[in-house]
Amino acid sequence: MKIHVLLYADGGSASLEAEAGITIRELFAQSQVGFDAPCGGNGRCGKCRLYAAGALSEPEERERSFLTEGELRSGMRLACYARLLGDCELRLPEENASIETSGRSEAYDFEPTVTVGEATLTIPTLKNPLDDRGNLLSAAKAADASYAALKKLPALTRAGKWSLFYVKDGETVLDVCPEKPKAAGMAVDIGTTTVVAYFYDLETGRLLGIESGLNEQKGFGADVISRIAACIDMPEGLRALQEAIIGQLNGFVQSFCRKSGFKRGNLYQATIAGNTTMQHIAAGLSPANIASAPFIPCSLFGFTLGAEQIGLELAQAAQVYFSPCLSSYVGGDITAGMLACGLDRMKDTCLYIDIGTNGEMALRHGGEIVCCSTAAGPAFEGAHIKYGTGGVWGAISGVRADTMRADAMRNGAVQIDFETIGGVPPIGLCGSGLIDALAVMKRLGVIDETGRITDPDELEDASLAPRLTEIDGEPAFVIDPESGICITQKDVREVQLAKAAIAAGITCLIKEAGIRVSDVQSLLLAGGFGSHINGASACEIGLLPPELEPKIRAVGNAAGMGASQTLLASGSYQRLTELVACCSYVELSGYPYFQEQYIEQMMF
Ligand code: FES
Repeated sequence: MKIHVLLYADGGSASLEAEAGITIRELFAQSQVGFDAPCGGNGRCGKCRLYAAGALSEPEERERSFLTEGELRSGMRLACYARLLGDCELRLPEENASIETSGRSEAYDFEPTVTVGEATLTIPTLKNPLDDRGNLLSAAKAADASYAALKKLPALTRAGKWSLFYVKDGETVLDVCPEKPKAAGMAVDIGTTTVVAYFYDLETGRLLGIESGLNEQKGFGADVISRIAACIDMPEGLRALQEAIIGQLNGFVQSFCRKSGFKRGNLYQATIAGNTTMQHIAAGLSPANIASAPFIPCSLFGFTLGAEQIGLELAQAAQVYFSPCLSSYVGGDITAGMLACGLDRMKDTCLYIDIGTNGEMALRHGGEIVCCSTAAGPAFEGAHIKYGTGGVWGAISGVRADTMRADAMRNGAVQIDFETIGGVPPIGLCGSGLIDALAVMKRLGVIDETGRITDPDELEDASLAPRLTEIDGEPAFVIDPESGICITQKDVREVQLAKAAIAAGITCLIKEAGIRVSDVQSLLLAGGFGSHINGASACEIGLLPPELEPKIRAVGNAAGMGASQTLLASGSYQRLTELVACCSYVELSGYPYFQEQYIEQMMF
């Protein structure tokens, strides 16, 4: 039986048709509706929330376990569980992601590989029968010409009295035009969670626009392992995931063109920086072997592909450069980030860390760079945390305990304050809020050094006792009594695993470089999460070494800045090649010291 579903999303609505009996998630997959399914639709995370009304299956026990009575009353359902039995209306929750688009980079000279020029060709005669291609190459001082340029050349030369404009990428003529064309390029950071595209004028280097969004592959799982599994397990999985990301980038291009007056045919080059899996999927290459030992990728990139080859809708002959990766788990986002921060030219001993679902890190010391990657898991991105959420509006991004305020002194109560992204009422905790909350809990003695939430009678400050509660039979600490947002014992354990993985990775790099922690002169934190975490809290819970607290510097979206630099400075290609040559990679899964440290760093 066919049914009709009205979907309200992104400020508009769409009418979808479906076979009765399928789940909402199956409907979204069939209709290619972008939707967040952090556990890959396996029904384990309880995050695929939306509002639904109409003929739906009754919530089963498992679905109920993820939702409060109030949420169920308001019509909230989980897309993985709720089945469509007849006509329905669905409404996606507001999704205002706060995505890091800014970043710092070292100064560099603007000198793109794409240039625009004007040429006057020689008029061929019977005595001098120059072919059009040879004529163009000689006038434009080029070595090659694209097929797209050749297709236009005969008519253009004769109509324009042998004068024309051309666009070259290095030694290759990409395009020929009767009028001087605008030339723009796109630099992209493809993160597992978010995607950012920067559009630049390639004649002036001016930033023309930024487009960003949550990665459209999110419906296939929150982390790279789920995405790889989707590529392997689903029929045509790789194609579906590639279409999701390339479709998103094409949407960015359309949106940029609408706002700027540029046309997609003016976009002559793109650069991409992403982790190794994201780059494989964008390039349409199988990431299957990244997930299992010995973790061999199809490619470590550092080359260009034609935009048309991967379905990217830019100028016909535009090329797309993929940043070089160092291994299956230290990708092009890290090399691009290191380029932006000048790690290849740095004299200081410097630690560069990008914390996401993986903690990817590099230590520059004495002219060499040693790198590794640790599986931090998605806890810092809000997954597997009871009240966890991404960095969206309403996420609690900072938590403070104020024992010194006058009112606290008067009545002996510790004041716990928090702030949310956008200053709106809280909906959950994002990674930075989670780290702050754990630091506060540690400072107040709510958790002991093993991470156990203490009993009320063990508390030093009895005023905290009302905040201790039980959720699903396990201890929890309430952060916001009004909304009930709290940290459960299981959440503490998830953070412990994540922070131990990062901290152990750092100690392994320090050991590999043969230095002490105190020898590190700067600690650069890249990525959206790194930009927002409170360094003191991260050090307090042992995520980062306390000695390095004064040396922490957030560098924002360094991967995006590196991709931009590659687009705007032709010397970047050589620098990336040299940077890769001085890097070595430590595979932590076969490194006994990592296991020792992992257990040790679990403590608070
Ligand atoms: S429960 Fe539906 S995506 Fe995890």
